[in-house]
Amino acid sequence: MTAVPRQIQLDVRELPTRWYNIIPDLPEPLPGPKDPDVGPSRLQQLPNLLIHECLGQEMSSERWVEIPEELRELYLQAGRPRPLFRALALEKALGTPAQLYYKSEFYSPTGSHKVNTALAQAYYARKEGKKRLTTETGAGQWGTALAYACSLVGLECTVYWVRAVHRWKPDRLGLMKMFGAEVHASPSPRTEFGRKLYEQDPNHPGSLGIAISEGLEDAGKDPDAVYSLGSVLNHVLMHQTIIGLETQKQFEKIGVYPDLVISCIGGGSNFGGFALPFLGDVLTKGKKTRFIAAQSQVAPNLQGEYRYDFADHAEMTPLLKMCTLGHTAQMAPIKGDGLRYHGCSPILSLLRHLGYIDTVAYPADEKHVFKHALTFIRTEGFLPAPESAYSICCAIDEALKCKETGEPKVIAFNISGHGFMDIQGYREVLGFDQESTSDEKRRTLLGI
Ligand SMILES: Cc1ncc(COP(=O)(O)O)c(C=O)c1O
Repeated sequence: MTAVPRQIQLDVRELPTRWYNIIPDLPEPLPGPKDPDVGPSRLQQLPNLLIHECLGQEMSSERWVEIPEELRELYLQAGRPRPLFRALALEKALGTPAQLYYKSEFYSPTGSHKVNTALAQAYYARKEGKKRLTTETGAGQWGTALAYACSLVGLECTVYWVRAVHRWKPDRLGLMKMFGAEVHASPSPRTEFGRKLYEQDPNHPGSLGIAISEGLEDAGKDPDAVYSLGSVLNHVLMHQTIIGLETQKQFEKIGVYPDLVISCIGGGSNFGGFALPFLGDVLTKGKKTRFIAAQSQVAPNLQGEYRYDFADHAEMTPLLKMCTLGHTAQMAPIKGDGLRYHGCSPILSLLRHLGYIDTVAYPADEKHVFKHALTFIRTEGFLPAPESAYSICCAIDEALKCKETGEPKVIAFNISGHGFMDIQGYREVLGFDQESTSDEKRRTLLGI
């Protein structure tokens, strides 16, 4: 055994019993959702569309929210708590004095952190007597997580999946169906809003904003159904804090505290889940940790304007105060498609606005991101989801800066999912489909 712990475990009895709600600790009151000046009230519609318990959690001022016992059992069934790894092999390959630690959400049964809120939402929906959940999905990770959660608690699940991605992920589609979900490429002819776009162009690539509109319309028309969102909203981030709370306990065990907390960000559930407990320490305990959100240049939403905007394309949601690129923004598809969303969670947007979160956006060709991911794959041996590759890339960039300055910073990052259903994306970006790629050429590509 090495003196330096390579893996920091938690016992099942150490699974957190409460989620952390950062709202009461924010430096300024969080601006709430509001209705637009014209048109019907979206706010009044919410109780018909969303899970009541989640709606209650949305603006709760309770700092700690109890995780129900039955849900904790489901978390155990899903393999929580998950280990924190020290990336000793990666550190060695980079020759950095930095200490790199990564949390292993890639052990999730469906492949990502999304199960943490999917299980919570499915559990509450069933408790409230609902029979079906509807939702949107972009990369497909959220749709799979909700299909899985519905299957475990005994609910039906309908998924509207952004057509551009639906088309090139047949295995993920198969997995959703194995969990019993009904899946529609979006825009679909199944909803009024989708039909309009579908009839104009049956090959319409779709967007997360459009898929949200379809899921909302579907749930709104069926009293037995309710809509479930996989990111952005406060309660979703709160459910995900189980990741950061476990990580804090793991760091406590080895007497280490991170100088830098890094994760990729789309709507914000992964970044929020990992970083908010540490951000809470900055806000209430005077910790000096720095936070970096890794994004794509096709959707650098945290670098957008901080203003009220809709969360969906058809303007069916209330307005949320967030950093946004505009709810009808066109964003080119990328392999890390889960990062392609126009707006960022109101909580994280406020913290960004107040200067607590830095952001970096990587080029759309994803070569820099995947090149660093490959270094990670070849040294640490885990295959990250393309979205998680952005976290790895940022952590490696920061570790290389430490190599220049000689600073032994402690860097923590979350690997939000595995990439076993995304190998085609890696092959395309890294050119592995060309038979002639020599080992030497690959090593140059790797930079090690
Ligand atoms: C593996 C993975 N990581 C991260 C994200 C980004 O989403 P969010 O910002 O909500 O965590 C996604 C979204 O689909 C994802 O699938």
